[in-house]
Amino acid sequence: MENSQIGTTLTHHVLLQQRQHAKRTGEQPAGDFSELLNQIAVAGKIISAEVNMAGLADILGVAGRTNVQGEEVMKLDDFANNTIVEILRRSGHVCIMTSEEVDDPIEVREPHFPGKYAIAFDPLDGSSNIDVNVSIGTIFSIHRRRGEYGSPGSEADLLRPGAELAAAGYVIYGSSTMLVYTTGHGVHGFTLDPSVGEFLLSHENIRIPEKCGTYSTNEGNSSTWTASTRHYVDAVKSPGDGPLEGMRSRYIGSLVADFHRNLIKGGVFLYPADAATGKGKLRLLYEAAPLAFVAKHAGGYASTGYESILDMKPSELHQRVPLIIGNRDAVEAYERSVADEKST
Ligand code: AHG
Ligand code: MN
Ligand code: MN
Repeated sequence: MENSQIGTTLTHHVLLQQRQHAKRTGEQPAGDFSELLNQIAVAGKIISAEVNMAGLADILGVAGRTNVQGEEVMKLDDFANNTIVEILRRSGHVCIMTSEEVDDPIEVREPHFPGKYAIAFDPLDGSSNIDVNVSIGTIFSIHRRRGEYGSPGSEADLLRPGAELAAAGYVIYGSSTMLVYTTGHGVHGFTLDPSVGEFLLSHENIRIPEKCGTYSTNEGNSSTWTASTRHYVDAVKSPGDGPLEGMRSRYIGSLVADFHRNLIKGGVFLYPADAATGKGKLRLLYEAAPLAFVAKHAGGYASTGYESILDMKPSELHQRVPLIIGNRDAVEAYERSVADEKST
C-alpha cells in the first residue's frame, strides 16, 4: 500500500524513472545513476547546512585567493568545492570532474574507483551574494564516460556538447533548499525537509509557463551591449501587451536563482556578448550547458544569440559563452534580432 504521507524521495523518484527507462529500452538499470544523484544530493545537504549558518560559522568572506577565472574566491566557494570533489571522488561512479574553482581536470584514481560518469560543476553559483544572504546555488552536469570502464577518465569525457548529457540540474539554497534535475524525461524539483534530511518531490514535471513576463539582465552592462541586445531589451520592456512586450525586470545576480524563477514563472535571462570582444561571462560546461539541458526538457531553449548552447562542442573546460535562456519564443526573438543586425 503506497503510504502517501511519506512523499516521494529523490531515490524513489529516480528508481521510478529508471523503471520507465527500462520498459522503454529493455536496459536493466544498474543503479549507478541513482546512487550518483544521491551523492550529489548529500553534497547539497552539507552545503545547505553550511550556507544556512554561514553568518555564525567562520565561513563568510574571501578565501584569500583568485581562481582560474581571475575571480576572488569566497570561503564558501572553497567549502562547496571541496565537499563536492570529495563526495564524488568516493562515490565510485565518477572517473573525472571539472570545477569552476579548479584550473585542471580532477581525475579519479586509486584508491578510488573511476566510475562511468564525467561531471562538470559550479560548486557555488552567485558568490557575490554569499555575504548578503541572497539565494545561491550549485550547478551540475553529468556525461556518461567514453573510455573503458574502470580506467581513469580524460578531458575528452568532459568536452562534449550539452546535447549528449545524461543528466543535469542544480541545487538552489534559497527560502528553502531545492534540487532540480532532468535525465531528459521531464524536469523534477525536490524540496529538502531539513527535519528528516530528505529531498521530497515538490515540483513534478516542471514546464516553463507560456507567458514570458520577465526579462532578467544586468542593465549596468548596457554600455557593453551590441545594438541588437539594446534593441531587444528596449522592445521587451516597452509598454504593450504583445507576447514579448511590457515585461517586468528581475535580476538577482545569481544565475541559478534568476534561472529558477524564470523556469517556474516564465521569463528570459540574458548575459549577452560584450560588443567589443564578442565574448560572454558565463561558463559553458558548468553554467550554460546544464541549465540549457534543464530548460530544453521544461519546454524552454538556450542560445548564445548565434547558436544553440546544447549544440556547442566545448574547446576548453572554462570556456565562456553569451547566454540567453528561458521561454523558447523569447530566446528565438533574440536570435532574430542578432540575425537582423548581421544582415544590415
Ligand atoms: P559565480 O558566482 O559562480 O562566479 O557565478 C556568478 C555569475 C552568475 O551567477 C550571475 O548570473 C552572474 O555571475 C552575475 O554577473 P554580474 O555580477 O556581472 O551581473
Ligand atoms: Mn556561477
Ligand atoms: Mn561559482
